[in-house]
Amino acid sequence: MRILNDNKLMLEGDENILITFLGENVVNFKIYRRLEPKYRVTDIESIRKVKVHISKRDDRIFAGDGRINITYNLKKQAFKLSCNNIDFCAHNVILSNKKYFIHIMWKKEYIYGLGEKAVKFNRRGLCLRLLNMDPSVYRVNDDPLYLNIPFLLMIGENFSYGFFLNTIRESIFDLCHNNNDKIVVESHGLEANYYIIFGRSPIDVIREYTKLVGRAPLPPLWALGYHQSRAPFPPIFPIKILIGGYKNEKNILKVAEEFRKRKIPCDVIYLDIDYMDNFKPFTWHPKRFKNYRYMLKKLNRMGFKVVTIIDPYIKYEPQSLMFKKYLEKNFFVKRDDEIFIGYGWPGKTVFPDFTREEVREWWAQLHKDLLESGVSGIWNDMNEPTFNVRLFGKKDFSGVRFYAGSLDEFRNIYANLMAIATWNAFKLFKKNKRPYILSRSGYAGIQKYAAVWTGDNISNWSHLRLSISMILSLGLCGLPFVGADIGGWAKIMTKKPYFAKCTPELFARWIQLGIFYPLCRSHSMIFSQEPWVFGQNVENIAKKYIRLRYRLIPYIYSLFWEHTQNGMPIMRPLFLYYPEDDRSHRDDEFLLGPFMLIAPVLERGSRSRVVYLPSQVWYDYWSMKKYEGGVISVKAPLDTIPIFIRSGAIIPTQPVLNYIGERMVDVTLEIYPGNGSFTLYEDDGITINSKYSLTKIINYMRGDKWNVIIERRRGEYNPRRKLYVYFRGIEEAEKILVNDKSVRPIELRRDGFIIDLGDNIKDIKINLSSIKLLGK
Ligand code: GLC
Repeated sequence: MRILNDNKLMLEGDENILITFLGENVVNFKIYRRLEPKYRVTDIESIRKVKVHISKRDDRIFAGDGRINITYNLKKQAFKLSCNNIDFCAHNVILSNKKYFIHIMWKKEYIYGLGEKAVKFNRRGLCLRLLNMDPSVYRVNDDPLYLNIPFLLMIGENFSYGFFLNTIRESIFDLCHNNNDKIVVESHGLEANYYIIFGRSPIDVIREYTKLVGRAPLPPLWALGYHQSRAPFPPIFPIKILIGGYKNEKNILKVAEEFRKRKIPCDVIYLDIDYMDNFKPFTWHPKRFKNYRYMLKKLNRMGFKVVTIIDPYIKYEPQSLMFKKYLEKNFFVKRDDEIFIGYGWPGKTVFPDFTREEVREWWAQLHKDLLESGVSGIWNDMNEPTFNVRLFGKKDFSGVRFYAGSLDEFRNIYANLMAIATWNAFKLFKKNKRPYILSRSGYAGIQKYAAVWTGDNISNWSHLRLSISMILSLGLCGLPFVGADIGGWAKIMTKKPYFAKCTPELFARWIQLGIFYPLCRSHSMIFSQEPWVFGQNVENIAKKYIRLRYRLIPYIYSLFWEHTQNGMPIMRPLFLYYPEDDRSHRDDEFLLGPFMLIAPVLERGSRSRVVYLPSQVWYDYWSMKKYEGGVISVKAPLDTIPIFIRSGAIIPTQPVLNYIGERMVDVTLEIYPGNGSFTLYEDDGITINSKYSLTKIINYMRGDKWNVIIERRRGEYNPRRKLYVYFRGIEEAEKILVNDKSVRPIELRRDGFIIDLGDNIKDIKINLSSIKLLGK
């Protein structure tokens, strides 16, 4: 037993134990016969050095820095961890032949995490597998799906803790599923490597966890707009005819024109596999997309960004010289010593071996024409990897291997490696523009390179509901930029339910909810799911909500910046702020950022909703009716999604645009009675390392006085945009002073008034006195 560095403790024996204290809240355990570095996600060894003390009494070893303390019982070979005298975690590890098991005691109710799962939000009682898979359209409770993350967030009374299994290999998490209080984590290899993260609140745990695996960079601003996509019926080999989809340039331009004509904002149009020649990546169909450069130019001029799908499928073409060249260079996945041939949309295909750096470089180069001719984003699909899309025929992947190791070992990070290769393409061909990559599969850390969506969901009500817990869970696991296909993707399936349909009502409810997804994309197989195809009434509803999304862009963008600072998701479960309130542990409501509570209607035919409001003051966004918390029932006609605003909220908004960046726009801070603060983030929205500025806003009330402080913009980005303040929930104020000068509102509204602060923002103090709030 010895201390290696200040913060590292080592116990040697048949099984070695290496414990590293990482700053104030994190401890890394490595229990091993042999260290296996290539199977780890992160190798963060030290965030801030702490000095550890150790002592031994009887058969117990005590180690710690005073704050975090570990007791190791030599007889039982078990650890007990406490932080600030709160007992967090008791566990032990069993290494068996090429496998290990971590047993953790957990008596409390709440266990969240593991990434994208179609199961209940609180995972307690389940046994879940972490291996990236293509379920080819999933149903509620199918497991596993495309994207897995070995991170658990556990919430107790007055404390939370996180557990991160630092491996890329398949694992199984048995979360008290035998109705006992034990979590058993099982995985392969000779090294059990995991982090335990302590926190007073779940927010602390998320901050530390995202430090370990990395946070998402800021996306290009246009990616926060509305995205439209449509798929053909996938040409499951050997069926190759295209049914549905956008099919050709003319159809795509028509869709773009409709958006502008109908004044429905839209920023992004996707090209699914039908743009390619025989579904071969990096090609264009010679007839249907003959003038693709012209099409891209025209779309760009209309303010659209185009995102093209790229699958990791290279057609098996032994007669082609190019193909032969890469075959000889060993660029493809193998089966034993032969090239591995699977089936993709183009028929017989081979698969790039992204575990090799040369392959990633080659792959990046292949994007030259796409990115230089006007494509703005790349959509990585089928990257679990899915090796077989034949309708019939057995799936046998035995002996399949990468350069770095077997398929089983490296499967989980294939998508991350593909995203890295795609990221490199942007570096090469888009210089300092921010990449936009959308990935279906992924593993811990994918957020550093790509946004993700929840794959092939079904156009039905249960998937509308499921989308909430799936996005919330991904957010807790460090992925802020997530969406689900609005309206649902699958219409025809090979398993039950065989058919599904996006009805006008379902679309209306889905778009109302979907505008609050961090990634707001409507995508559908075969059928059109543009906002206007469900009749005038639903078109009006879709338009109302997509426009609301565009008004909220400054707020949502600032939340993305906040993620870069503390790892917080954009879409947040209520329990992040009220962890001790049992009723906040739910997935039928959520918060967008700190201030907006969204309670979507999730049942067919329903025109009202029972909403739970955590105990504090909330305002109904539509009527400004005040609530003190508790269970309430509200009306929710088809054109209304219940939204509640937390008292003291500050929500920066902007005027509706046809697309982001159409012109420079002013910002209006919507301010609600109460106490709160918010930081507005601004930059050019497009370049990496753009100049930026931060504006801190503080809102507080004392008696009949309402004060708002807007600190001067800090930073080098100084756009000439005006700032307005919209005080909501106020009937009148006797005096309105801005930096001690009396001003008059420029506009009176039913529920408040707007004042104009001009475009030269210095430190500003606004004082309203003798105010009368609405309804008093
Ligand atoms: C996969 C994707 C889906 C896409 C389809 C055709 O099923 O998940 O979004 O439309 O392939 O490319």
